[in-house]
Amino acid sequence: MSTPYSRIYIHTHTSRCKIQHRKSFLFSLSLSLFLAFSACIHPLRKSESMAEEKKWVLMVTAQTPTNIAVIKYWGKRDETLILPINDSISVTLDPAHLCTTTTVAVSPAFQQDRMWLNGKEIPLSGGRYQNCLREIRSRACDVEDEKKGIKISKKDWENLHLHIASYNNFPTAAGLASSAAGFACLVFALGKLMNVKEDNSQLSAIARQGSGSACRSLFGGFVKWNMGKDENGSDSLAVQLVDEKHWDELVIIIAVVSSRQKETSSTSGMRETVETSPLIQHRAKEVVPKRVIQMEEAIKNRDFPTFAHLSCADSNQFHAVCLDTSPPIFYMNDTSHRIISCVEKWNRSEGTPQVAYTFDAGPNAVMIARNRKAATLLLQRLLFHFPPNSDTDLSSYVIGDNSILDDAGIKDLKDIEALPPPPEVKDNVPAKNKGDVSYFICTRPGRGPVLITDENQALLNPETGLPK
Ligand code: DP6
Repeated sequence: MSTPYSRIYIHTHTSRCKIQHRKSFLFSLSLSLFLAFSACIHPLRKSESMAEEKKWVLMVTAQTPTNIAVIKYWGKRDETLILPINDSISVTLDPAHLCTTTTVAVSPAFQQDRMWLNGKEIPLSGGRYQNCLREIRSRACDVEDEKKGIKISKKDWENLHLHIASYNNFPTAAGLASSAAGFACLVFALGKLMNVKEDNSQLSAIARQGSGSACRSLFGGFVKWNMGKDENGSDSLAVQLVDEKHWDELVIIIAVVSSRQKETSSTSGMRETVETSPLIQHRAKEVVPKRVIQMEEAIKNRDFPTFAHLSCADSNQFHAVCLDTSPPIFYMNDTSHRIISCVEKWNRSEGTPQVAYTFDAGPNAVMIARNRKAATLLLQRLLFHFPPNSDTDLSSYVIGDNSILDDAGIKDLKDIEALPPPPEVKDNVPAKNKGDVSYFICTRPGRGPVLITDENQALLNPETGLPK
């Protein structure tokens, strides 16, 4: 880039003049000066050459899962660095059903950093994006792609611009932690593009600055976000407790609950809770530290009853501190409460928990069944209580790993209508709640971020660096 077209041109031309008109030094000099001048004022020729030089685009595509907390993060001690007031623990969801794919590209031809989310350009001016970009750029290293003849040195990254395209394989509006997978994927993909040497745990401290819960999406299986003590956040990192194979019997069913209400965002909700709820201090200081230790043990030992008890209790306490906020925040709705009551009744009737439930900052229920049999029985119960509207297609009502429908003996809507009332409610069968659930997603614990090497799956055009 620093070799201007005019200089190369003058040099070549002058040499030629010297051979042809050795004795006519003055003529050669004046011709050179004329050509130098015309090269400078001829913008078309100059920009054509720059375009030649700037042609290359280097890109990386990654896929990152979302996660659901079983011990919740709620409340910050530092709003900018996103440092929490307690540890949290999550399970990573199978990216086959819930993930973000992100392509990041760099080229000297790019004029500015740009981003597209689900095909639509979005501004990158927000502080959280800027913090992530700054942190990852400051860790960039030399990059060489011999095949493409590209060499980027550590200091070049400060001046090079990025194009980012991101896509969620689940509806962003469904209220399913899309920012967690999104920021984790952005940081992971940029780390690979820029040859950043930090491991996933250190990268999690950057993703955390995009959205707190994003730090836990840098790993598969069960993940703990250590709140840390340092003021600069250097020890507020995610670590993997166990990978996704450790407890692979678990099956997860998510009820995406229909809601007309505009929800309070997690960011402002937790700020209001910290400012106004007396209960949150008790939760962060007394309750969560003990629960985190017990939860780690339960996960290590695959102790489902303890796991279920802690998950449900922690979700309920998180919603209790929301109610304790002034003005109170209601994330769950009547459908959420009905789902809790359905699970609680069944668990009690079995004598030991079959299913754990947890709710984030919205009405959707995430239910974790102890095994496939329990998941089948759960799905039958859910479909009995929450049948689809009659015009709904079964394959769009139960999505993800819908092979559980076969186990449950359900092939079409008639089979749902024919489901008998679950034994635990048969003496007092509640009215059915048709249409109160938009759809169910059947999934399982999943792996952490991966690189996608197949260029066909990239979201940006390898020639232009623009969305495909
Ligand atoms: C209820 O990570 O979305 O899902 O850090 O402000 O971006 P910010 O909040 P966010 O909060 C998630 C809250 C939660 C619980 C959890 O995931 O631990």
